[in-house]
Amino acid sequence: MTNWIHVCTTDDIDEEDLIRWDHGDKTYAIYNTEAGFFATDGYCTHEQQHLEDGIVIGKVIECPLHQGRFDIQSGKALSAPVCVDLTTYPIKLEGEEIFIQVTG
Ligand code: FES
Repeated sequence: MTNWIHVCTTDDIDEEDLIRWDHGDKTYAIYNTEAGFFATDGYCTHEQQHLEDGIVIGKVIECPLHQGRFDIQSGKALSAPVCVDLTTYPIKLEGEEIFIQVTG
């Protein structure tokens, strides 16, 4: 089953930044980029490092631990040491309200 869950408002995430958002037993990263708002799994696929303290560079997130990089929109792993893509989740906006589509 697929659900749209309210996350926050657009003002809650600075431009070129991200926030951590926990829901159920999962944790996510919600981004405000030059290309819009996006959502991925919160943990880096290299080690159990949350991306919330990472740096957003355009549409790229750089992990704070070993500086591996992912494309935020596609989740694609871009540079060592990361080699496994991040899972991404659909986002929709209703006015200033941000919703994420999660399964389960
Ligand atoms: S934990 Fe993210 S690059 Fe190593």
